[in-house]
Amino acid sequence: MKQKTLFYCTECGNEMPKWAGRCPACGAWNTIVEQPAEKTASKGSRAHPAAPGGVRRACPVTELTSDEEIRFPTGMGELDRVLGGGAVKGSLVLVGGAPGIGKSTLMLQICSKLCEFSRVLYVSGEESEHQLKLRARRLHVDSPNLLVISETSLEDMLDSIRLETPDVVIVDSIQTLYNPALESPAGSISQVKECTMALMQLAKGQGITVFVIGHVNKEGSIAGPKVLEHMVDCVLYFEGDRHTSYRILRAAKNRFGATNEIGVFEMQDEGLAEVENPSQMLLSGRPDDAPGTCVACVMEGARPVLAEVQALVVTTASGGNPRRTSNGFDYNRAAMLLAVLEKRGGLKVSACDAYLNIIGGLWLDEPAADLAAVVALASSYLDRPVPGDLVAIGEVGLTGELRTVSQLPLRIREAQRLGFRRCVIPAHRALDARAFGDMELLAVRNIGEAIRAALRPRE
Ligand code: TYD
Ligand code: MG
Repeated sequence: MKQKTLFYCTECGNEMPKWAGRCPACGAWNTIVEQPAEKTASKGSRAHPAAPGGVRRACPVTELTSDEEIRFPTGMGELDRVLGGGAVKGSLVLVGGAPGIGKSTLMLQICSKLCEFSRVLYVSGEESEHQLKLRARRLHVDSPNLLVISETSLEDMLDSIRLETPDVVIVDSIQTLYNPALESPAGSISQVKECTMALMQLAKGQGITVFVIGHVNKEGSIAGPKVLEHMVDCVLYFEGDRHTSYRILRAAKNRFGATNEIGVFEMQDEGLAEVENPSQMLLSGRPDDAPGTCVACVMEGARPVLAEVQALVVTTASGGNPRRTSNGFDYNRAAMLLAVLEKRGGLKVSACDAYLNIIGGLWLDEPAADLAAVVALASSYLDRPVPGDLVAIGEVGLTGELRTVSQLPLRIREAQRLGFRRCVIPAHRALDARAFGDMELLAVRNIGEAIRAALRPRE
């Protein structure tokens, strides 16, 4: 009998009867793969045991206890911050990221702290026990409470867990784990879903905290963490520019906290170091006196972070269509700001190519970064630099007006702490300038005033 196959998107897990170049559900290109259709409720799978004794009774909510969830620190303040104040006992955390970004390093490093008060089982399908030992030595992780095993079979891993009774399990990675009862290969959609489901039951059933590493890959040959996002408690993405040593950890989903905090790390010779002062890192290497750059201040969770916005505006080659790209900044928002610059600022940017880039791998999705983007674009267009000690904070409206933003004093103080002396802000807000000492507040009403206040006059 011919085996039945189905087509899946490796980005979002969408199922379809025939192949397509682009997934109709998530819109990703070249992510559709053909895989054998799994029979539902596969026999021999221990992941879905039948409920014993027939139907289970539901429980009145009044009879349930409402203890706060139990949290514990991971020893990495930046990770704890992203998790919402430590890891929650019995939760499943998915850590996604591109290969080589530092996921295994981060997970092995937190074992140091975790092993002080719990037993940790590190299951690796990527490296041998010997390789893990070498890596642990490099990271100075050394504890009899850290158990490592090189394993790829789901069943054998569950047996090891039963035997060793750890408090924390780390699975590296979900794409190497497989259930032999399924026909599809490790890394396929059905395998990663099945294995994650089994790990989820382990977390909920036995109160074991599970960290699962998942590779994000652009080729779409293996199923990425996106497919699993809806199943797990927390999804963290570890990101960073391959060419720099800085890494940013952010939460895409968190059942036990907010998703707006970021953690910043630097990859060093002996593992990841926490960067407690991300503004300083994001601003290091900023060019002096070059047109086309302006510093913004955005809130990442409760923390104000300064980031450099760079813009390049050049006349489009005659006959060509203007090119626009943005990196780390919403494309449509950038297009809107360009249109406002044209109509309200009087700059003929429609005849220009425009490129916008946020330094350091940060993603600025807060309207408070609008003004810095506008100033950077105008600075490049007019070829006039912004003074190095100036930040611009404010949302830009469609009529070119500046709108105030939340937490303005907090942002100004962060800029002041890092040595900035001038701050362009929306004029609507009554701020007591004396509260900011030697920081000069340049209150402006619209982008025209902002550009005049922020750009150096031509010599
Ligand atoms: P790794 O944690 O193996 O990445 P992932 O698990 O996400 O694939 O990190 C791999 C990179 O980090 C590798 O290029 C080497 C580098 N690295 C350091 O620079 N310092 C270190 O202490 C360690 C362990 C790795
Ligand atoms: Mg790894």
